[in-house]
Amino acid sequence: MHDLGAIRDRLRHNAISTLSFAAMTVSKEKPTAKSTLKQRPIRSFVLRTGRTTAGQRRAMRELWPLYGIALSPTEIEFDKLFTRAAPVILEIGFGNGDNLVSMACGAPKDNFLGIEVHEPGVGHCLLRIEARQTDNIRIIRDDAVEVLQNRIPNKSLSRVNLFFPDPWHKKRHHKRRIVQPAFITLLAQKLKQRGIFHVATDWPNYAEHIAGIMSASDDFEALPDFPADRITTRFDTRGKRLGHDNWERAWCTCNKSRIVY
Ligand SMILES: C[S@@+](CC[C@H](N)C(=O)[O-])C[C@H]1O[C@@H](n2cnc3c(N)ncnc32)[C@H](O)[C@@H]1O
Repeated sequence: MHDLGAIRDRLRHNAISTLSFAAMTVSKEKPTAKSTLKQRPIRSFVLRTGRTTAGQRRAMRELWPLYGIALSPTEIEFDKLFTRAAPVILEIGFGNGDNLVSMACGAPKDNFLGIEVHEPGVGHCLLRIEARQTDNIRIIRDDAVEVLQNRIPNKSLSRVNLFFPDPWHKKRHHKRRIVQPAFITLLAQKLKQRGIFHVATDWPNYAEHIAGIMSASDDFEALPDFPADRITTRFDTRGKRLGHDNWERAWCTCNKSRIVY
């Protein structure tokens, strides 16, 4: 059930946040081709111009103001955003959001944050939220790395889920894989003590890459089991079709971590 007062407050907050972000991004300096190239970060995604259906467009118009988080330079205050204090579970690159919505419905006492860059996926997810009438999900449409760096407070997340990240299978593209040592250090900063990082991939070479980075990290220790609460997505099916064994693991932040805030 939606509380209209809370929704109106959120709309107002989103409008203010959008304005302040716009103000922040207007720079008086004209970037040169050289400086632009130098500053461009290596991204783990390519923005595809996928077809957005009429339903997804309606969702972006009508539901985004309720569940979407506007771009802003400021850190998110989770208790205010969800109007309650509860563990926050982040899903990075949620695709069409089927898993995110299913997990949120299965854990109504937890708060769920989803980050995805692909507009049709965000629209689809909003339609699923509407269909399931759940109010414990908020969505950001932006690069998850930048969101983690700029908007997620340290030690605020109870769990981070990364399911079937883009494998970037060509060797020359491995630098685009989202799981890198610096990304893992960033996650350790954002997770609470004993916070969980849960990963699944259908790509054996990416699994080796992740396993290597995680075992070299002083911030995480491997858990004997991973949580069994995600649903099967088309990527599970794709892995099986390609003859790959899907690989799934979880770690938690540990005491030997030397993270200083
Ligand atoms: C292979 S798909 C998997 C989708 C979903 N997790 C699933 O299992 O169905 C990877 C998704 O991650 C998203 N993605 C990749 N890098 C991202 C980033 N830095 N920030 C947000 N989303 C990202 C892509 O747009 C894509 O939808």
